[in-house]
Amino acid sequence: MNKDPRPVANDTYAAAVAESQALEQDLRDPENRRHYRMLTGDRPTGRLHIGHYFGSLQNRVALQQLGLETFIVIADYQVLTDRDRGERIAYFTRQLCMDYLAVGLDPENHPVHIFVHSQVPELNQLFVPFLTLVSQSELERNPTTKDELQHSSLGQLSASLLAYPVHQAADILFCHGNVVPVGKDQLPHIELTRNIARRFNKRYSDKQPYFPRPIGLLSRTPSIMGLDGTTKMSKSRGNSIELSAGPEEVAKSIKQAKTDSERRITYEPERRPEVANLLQLLGLCSGENPEDIAESIGDGGSGALKRLLTEQLNAVLEPIQRRRKEFEQNEDYIDRILARGCAVARERAAQTMKDVHRFLGTYIV
Ligand code: TRP
Repeated sequence: MNKDPRPVANDTYAAAVAESQALEQDLRDPENRRHYRMLTGDRPTGRLHIGHYFGSLQNRVALQQLGLETFIVIADYQVLTDRDRGERIAYFTRQLCMDYLAVGLDPENHPVHIFVHSQVPELNQLFVPFLTLVSQSELERNPTTKDELQHSSLGQLSASLLAYPVHQAADILFCHGNVVPVGKDQLPHIELTRNIARRFNKRYSDKQPYFPRPIGLLSRTPSIMGLDGTTKMSKSRGNSIELSAGPEEVAKSIKQAKTDSERRITYEPERRPEVANLLQLLGLCSGENPEDIAESIGDGGSGALKRLLTEQLNAVLEPIQRRRKEFEQNEDYIDRILARGCAVARERAAQTMKDVHRFLGTYIV
């Protein structure tokens, strides 16, 4: 028996990184690329921030440009899993869609489908047979579920939070998604999705596997810390900059960002994490590497660092905000994009459910 579980977890992570890199390689090849379909998504709980932008949205747009068929789920049912009631779900659903379009996802000119999972009944139906393929203890062990329970307002684990990863497997597999861009925290859900796919195939379609084996595509961007120096940039912690933040708000947030008392700017992520974080953000804006930026600022100190970051971040955000403003004026357009995305998702999910019912041997009206 392995007494210390950590090395195993690290091995698993190393394997996930290796697989993600091999996938990236594969996606560069137009011939191999045809075998992939991307599925990813977010919860409609707030507007997206620059951490989302550099960590995942940019990547999604790049994959769109490569022509990969992409489903993006606005996971509204998931919002209900870790709180007593969802707040303003419809409002945040539209806001999320505006953020997607503003960063350059373009369902009109690419095979990109943005849909809302409560509006795709056939997808949710897949949840039922999938539940039969998973054990309670397996779900109770999921570290991401445990973490979410801790950060939630729930006193105890609800059945919906416990089972949520199974729902996520339905999100991924209904369209036979096999490329899933995610952060590290979502890897346990990918693992579960694979187990579900494998068990389904073994039980019902042994000869020719019906569901694919999805792979998590991990971002290469190191995770961006909150501006207050805490480890995660998040809206609820008030330490983020939203994509919709105007120039003054950006200036104000950066001015308040935590640094340290050393005058000279150096890039030392271990010893000076807050300064390093700002340098990394600058690097993401300009494409330069953080060491060189630190060198060029030098004795200019954190004042100069913050001025530069404000300027460059505003330059990155300007076109995004310009587009976003147009969408804000045109809610009908947002609704049309979502209606179309939901229709495509429904069609795809209905086909999958038809196959699944055949595999299950259910009576079909
Ligand atoms: N669980 C994800 C989150 O909390 C959102 C999500 C729902 C998702 N369904 C998905 C992500 C399917 C990737 C694939 O952010």
